[in-house]
Amino acid sequence: MIYLLKLFKYLKNYTRHMVASMLFLVLSVIFSMIQPKLIEWVIDQGITAGILSNILYGALGILLLGIFGNVANLFSGFSLIKAGQGLSHEVRSDLFKKILSFSFLNFDKWRTGELLVRLNSDVNTVRMFVRMGLFMIVQSMVTIIGSIIFMFLTDVRLATIMSIIMGGTFILSLAFVSIMRPLFMKMRKRLDELNNTLQENLAGAKVVRAFNRQIFEKDKFHGKNMEIYKVSLKVGYLFGVFMPFMLFLGNMSVTLVLWLGGTEIISNYNAHTTGFTLGQLTAFNNYAMMSIFPLVMLGMVLNFVSMASASAERICGLLKEEPDIVTPASPVSAHNIKGRIEFRAVSFGYGDGEDAISDINLVIEPGEKIGIIGGTGSGKSSLVNLIPRLYEPRQGKIIIDGVDIKDYDPSELRKKAGIVLQDPILFSGGIRENILYGNPDAGDERAEHAAEIAQAIPFITEKGWDTAIGERGTGLSGGQRQRVAIARTIAAGPEIIILDDVTSSLDLETEKKVTRGIYDELTNATVIIISQKIKSIKESDRIIVMDKGRITGIGRHEELVSTNDIYRQIARTQNEYI
Ligand SMILES: Nc1ncnc2c1ncn2[C@@H]1O[C@H](COP(=O)(O)OP(=O)(O)O)[C@@H](O)[C@H]1O
Ligand SMILES: [Mg+2]
Repeated sequence: MIYLLKLFKYLKNYTRHMVASMLFLVLSVIFSMIQPKLIEWVIDQGITAGILSNILYGALGILLLGIFGNVANLFSGFSLIKAGQGLSHEVRSDLFKKILSFSFLNFDKWRTGELLVRLNSDVNTVRMFVRMGLFMIVQSMVTIIGSIIFMFLTDVRLATIMSIIMGGTFILSLAFVSIMRPLFMKMRKRLDELNNTLQENLAGAKVVRAFNRQIFEKDKFHGKNMEIYKVSLKVGYLFGVFMPFMLFLGNMSVTLVLWLGGTEIISNYNAHTTGFTLGQLTAFNNYAMMSIFPLVMLGMVLNFVSMASASAERICGLLKEEPDIVTPASPVSAHNIKGRIEFRAVSFGYGDGEDAISDINLVIEPGEKIGIIGGTGSGKSSLVNLIPRLYEPRQGKIIIDGVDIKDYDPSELRKKAGIVLQDPILFSGGIRENILYGNPDAGDERAEHAAEIAQAIPFITEKGWDTAIGERGTGLSGGQRQRVAIARTIAAGPEIIILDDVTSSLDLETEKKVTRGIYDELTNATVIIISQKIKSIKESDRIIVMDKGRITGIGRHEELVSTNDIYRQIARTQNEYI
């Protein structure tokens, strides 16, 4: 509930709409409340009294009230639609901004499916609540209060009896809600699970086929689908029973009103006294019927409230997630970075897990060309991801050009320290567009030069610079994708360039050419290349050997072959003795 109220701050810009809509709503209910009184007048002063003009005036009045009421209702609805859509538009924007501010660590915590559900169906639920829930609450409340007042104005005895019946109805609908609420929650949770399964399946569509696991996936989906089916069916049946039951209660009260009112009119008539009239009975009956349905609605709305607050809670949970990497209040300019990197006693690990790298001390000079080698899981990626501050170290400091990287603006730092990630993702669009992603104004010449260094020219010329490539770069081979991604980072013109094992899909010859191209062409840049193959990093100024999260050796190829056991082992298997 608090969460729902929290989200209402998004309605701030729509205060006018909300106020107008509530006023129009109350107005429309008041118009419909007057109608039975007019009917009473038509019956008593027109029909019973035998005055034709009164019937006409009354009928005209009813028509006008109907028109006014519906127009007011229309205005109210329009204002609420505007406010509801406005709220969802702004919440969605904020959620997306939040996701854009996420660091890698944040993404490690959230599943894609969860993010999607929050941005789509949760926002929708809250919007529907603003549109329908508030409308229903106000309409029901005003109708109930209005009809009670009018009933008491019409006949106190009957009104007292009706109030008791109405109280009973409300309690019944509350009881119904308490049965329904857990079912609704369950339905929602199952829907989430289904969404996650679906999302994972679509993302991993190719893996499913490669392993021929369609039947397994079908069964998994079928299970989740079945659970939703079962819960929904239960909810549907319960509603199916509840609605006619409540309407039956309405019928009962009409019967009771007709019986009690009717006998009173007859006994008055027999005793030749005036009192309760036929018109009043009709009016009263109308009020009674008008009040039962809102009571049922009010019960339903409580369900709506709990659903919307559950969604609001999930939305707030996402909005509350703090990106762990923050921009300092007065950042040091990273503009003139030359590329001297220093690790001072740095340790780092993921979540609560053990250290992925421990106690790293390292100085890399500007313009130096560094190779990194080591077994999988030895911490190579973890080490380099810290340089553009994609993750925050647990202990120690990383200093670039004499300044702790925490003191730079992260976005400026990342412009200066470009990384090609291990699994390069390209966006749909042309190859040129992709290469210029990091720096759209760099121009064709820069893009072509970058592509040349990345050994991508032959296949780009063949495919065409502006040929569209799909999401995740389908239409290109793994090695081609890697080269476009390398060109993309080079084109952005960073002072520090990091390649995280992105030449793995290239043949040895091309891989070596890429390394050599980068080393030779980007003489001023500090370059760090992670590779599994000694051949491609052999000519580095220094090679770092990683093992179990630690640096076990640094030096030139020839030195390491003679001094470092791990390196010698790798060299032996790759026939790279000399
Ligand atoms: N996103 C992650 N969440 C949790 N643990 C991770 C994550 N990425 C890597 N690790 C763990 O950190 C350790 C080092 O991994 P990594 O730096 O990727 O090694 P390398 O790049 O040398 O293969 C491994 O034990 C790995 O399981
Ligand atoms: Mg790695």
